[in-house]
Amino acid sequence: MTSISGTRVADNIHFYEPAQGHGLPHDPFNAIVGPRPIGWIASRSSEGVLNLAPYSFFNAFNYHPPLIGFSSIGRKDTLRNIEQTGEFVWNLATRPLADAMNISCAPAPPEVDEFALAGLTPAVSRIVNVPRVAESPVSFECRRTQIIELQGVNGDGVGSWLVLGEVVGVHIARHLLTDGVYDTAAAAPILRGGGPADYFEIGPDSLFHMRRPAWP
Ligand SMILES: Cc1cc2nc3c(=O)[nH]c(=O)nc-3n(C[C@H](O)[C@H](O)[C@H](O)COP(=O)(O)O)c2cc1C
Repeated sequence: MTSISGTRVADNIHFYEPAQGHGLPHDPFNAIVGPRPIGWIASRSSEGVLNLAPYSFFNAFNYHPPLIGFSSIGRKDTLRNIEQTGEFVWNLATRPLADAMNISCAPAPPEVDEFALAGLTPAVSRIVNVPRVAESPVSFECRRTQIIELQGVNGDGVGSWLVLGEVVGVHIARHLLTDGVYDTAAAAPILRGGGPADYFEIGPDSLFHMRRPAWP
């Protein structure tokens, strides 16, 4: 144990205050909060250009209605499109689609169709005017519910926007439904780890079961 400003701290714990820097070769934040599911978001500009990009600051936030969201670090084409049209489609990024997902993150100008760039097929959606990725086994058609600029503890905007949407249509490839139950591992979803290039693939070996404790 050592003493810093009268506080006893363990030598075997690396502590840092992010505002002062992490003091490590690489920022560990993304590697710790990971692996993260990927929001592979399709959108359409008001001029009609298709857009596709991955967002790993992504998750689900509610069951009924189902709400999902992702964070745009800075103002990107996806954010602008959803501001303008109020619609987007989430697509499941799987191991066979990893390279295409990665290509779709290229900082292409707004006039570039990122479906075409990534060699993917736009499939017409049923409810929203944004196509889903035909090659992806699961897609959610979404309508924007909120766009919130994130703030630091001082209340100042940080220049990142949380985009939330309600899932209004769900497409699931039937081969992922075993007796009607969705098989997460069978889809081979990929998740984002830390560093410049770490990903994880989910397979059956990752699965274990644990039920919530009964109370009382
Ligand atoms: C796996 C992966 C996850 C990413 N996650 C995010 C994210 O959460 N937020 C973000 O702003 N950019 C993220 N990016 C970078 C965007 O995909 C990239 O800036 C892209 O060009 C944005 O496209 P757009 O301008 O068409 O929306 C990620 C990239 C990859 C490859």
